[in-house]
Amino acid sequence: MTEPFTVAIDGPAAAGKGTISKAVAERFGFAHLDTGLLYRAVGAKMLLGVEPIEAAQTLKAEDLQAPDLRSAEVAEAASKVAVIPEVRAALVDFQCAFARRAGGAVLDGRDIGTVICPEAEVKLFVTASPEVRAHRRYLELMAKGADTTEDAVLADVVARDARDRERATAPLRAAADAVFLDTSHMDIDSAVEAAARAIEAKRGERG
Ligand code: CDP
Ligand code: CDP
Repeated sequence: MTEPFTVAIDGPAAAGKGTISKAVAERFGFAHLDTGLLYRAVGAKMLLGVEPIEAAQTLKAEDLQAPDLRSAEVAEAASKVAVIPEVRAALVDFQCAFARRAGGAVLDGRDIGTVICPEAEVKLFVTASPEVRAHRRYLELMAKGADTTEDAVLADVVARDARDRERATAPLRAAADAVFLDTSHMDIDSAVEAAARAIEAKRGERG
């Protein structure tokens, strides 16, 4: 396939967006962009004292390799810089071009189906209950040796979701034509299969 084919995967924190995106990108031979990493990289720079708009405007590929981008502290910083319209604007062109690259692309984030690529062929809105999402993120952070509690992770996730849903620019919400995927009671394989079926259905339509 040489023409663009975009899969937009949005949803709240730790819903399974990245895991599903990676698996379907591999299965269909699509490129994958975790757009949260862009905001995390800007958030990490802000924590180092760089002004967030400047950080977004000068972001480089190697900034996405910075250590600790997956920490809770950086996640919170990411959601704070993500409310700034100029930060979001500086990151739009790269994401749009990635979405429409030849050969297909999967992007996961908060505003892919609504703002970055409203023309995406497939839009998924991946959710799970806050408790399930916090538990998953807690296990990940513990595996990395973080010193935290499940209650603290739940509080962080809930606060971050609220900030993401309530911001004026590109808030977290499902596109009108998104397919909902509630993974609260799904293991990873079932969630990936459900996403793959939605993609297959669209690819079939296009012949
Ligand atoms: O990208 P997002 O923050 O939405 O979530 P993720 O990083 O893909 O998933 C968060 C954690 O939940 C990972 O450790 C996944 O392995 C796990 N997960 C799960 O246990 N069950 C699922 N159905 C999906 C993800
Ligand atoms: O992995 P998780 O779902 O916890 O977070 P992420 O996808 O890495 O995103 C971190 C933060 O970046 C989010 O809480 C949002 O504030 C912001 N973000 C955004 O505003 N728009 C996107 N397309 C992706 C992330």
